[in-house]
Amino acid sequence: MLKERNADLSRMVEPDRVRKELYTDAEIFEQEMARIHETVWIYVGHESQVPKSGDYYTAQIGRQPMILVRGSDGRVNVLYNRCPHRGNMICGDMKGNTGEQFRCSYHAWTFHHDGKLKNIPMMESGYAGTRLHRNSPELCVKRAARVESYRGFVFASLAKDGPDLKTFLGQSIVAFDDMCDRAPEGEVEIVPNCFRVIQHSNWKLFMENQIDALHPSVTHQSTGRAAHEVEKQIAKKAKAGEALSYHMLSAFATVTIDKWDNFQTINYPYGHCVLTGYMGLRPQDPDTKAYDRIMIRKYGQKRFEEIVGVNIHHVLVYPGLSVQSPLQQLRAVRPLGVGRTLTEIWHFRLKGAPEAIYRRSLAYYNLVNSPATLINADDLENFWKCHQGLSTDGGDWVSFARHHGRDIEEKGVVSSGPNMGTSEAPMRNQMKAWAQYMAAR
Ligand code: FES
Ligand SMILES: [Fe+2]
Repeated sequence: MLKERNADLSRMVEPDRVRKELYTDAEIFEQEMARIHETVWIYVGHESQVPKSGDYYTAQIGRQPMILVRGSDGRVNVLYNRCPHRGNMICGDMKGNTGEQFRCSYHAWTFHHDGKLKNIPMMESGYAGTRLHRNSPELCVKRAARVESYRGFVFASLAKDGPDLKTFLGQSIVAFDDMCDRAPEGEVEIVPNCFRVIQHSNWKLFMENQIDALHPSVTHQSTGRAAHEVEKQIAKKAKAGEALSYHMLSAFATVTIDKWDNFQTINYPYGHCVLTGYMGLRPQDPDTKAYDRIMIRKYGQKRFEEIVGVNIHHVLVYPGLSVQSPLQQLRAVRPLGVGRTLTEIWHFRLKGAPEAIYRRSLAYYNLVNSPATLINADDLENFWKCHQGLSTDGGDWVSFARHHGRDIEEKGVVSSGPNMGTSEAPMRNQMKAWAQYMAAR
């Protein structure tokens, strides 16, 4: 039966188009969760979310509710949020500090931060002669099969076999290097709260949109135009720097489709992608200059120029993460169902950078991601409308044919051709990875 289903799936993905059922079929969704999200490395959280012993934060990997927790030995653990006794969730709250142990709220079994059983009330009398004894592994909270951290970003894989984190990330690791290198202290810390947005659409629509270089100047055009009008008025009256927030938004209208074609996508194995190019948000105002001086003092002129000159707009770590490293933000995708997806949008602070620099990137984060901003609303409306359209009988395929056949492929890396930044190569690359994962035994 499963074999037949696999044969079906292989017919659903062609190099330049895929069947609509990939977005709407609940059974395919369940298989995706098992074969992709619950197998590969998924971003759980940042180490700075759990700075002290006992600090925990919950996160979803595929269909599995998990706990990120700092142990008293300083190590970060990732556990299933499930009591081994009768299945109660260990943590009902999203975050907190559990003290020296986890204590299940149902029958008071307690656990160490690494999941090992600590105690069961009256264990000796209650369990003497049963199949269970103090060292039974089934009395421990189950751990994620593998946990690795890179520059403070914690990933877990629920499969015991597979590539290590660095191999999996490949070139997309640049997202974390670029973000951390921009900090005078070489690391970032998380801003403790994120935007949580539930979209009524399949998770793949979100991932495809993240490196869809054609859509910003169309989808966000009205928002960008309105901002541009205000920006011009402010610029007439005041110093140009004061219109920066509007400039961040007006770029969505002033950077037109042909300009987006000057960008380039570089598509890597496992579905990852880098969109090169930069939106030019580095004004020469006193705050930027103060930041530059700190960085030069720390790294020297040459290394400083290398760091701020990194030409990246966006990095996609398939299947669950989109990172805008120059703006210190990332979006983690948590699929909830075939037509329901949670995105967590996190922001980071560059350690050692002036407060004004943090405030500026925070402004961009809010302008683009807040539920109150028009930019996010523009995208959410498209996601919902796509999901609605794909659920109809109005057509069977989703097309990714833009610039198909013009990609440049070298050693498994596929770059969009010159002046083809709006190529749908990233979607083709994601679907290639999707098909490989889904066919794997
Ligand atoms: S369900 Fe957790 S102690 Fe009983
Ligand atoms: Fe968008």
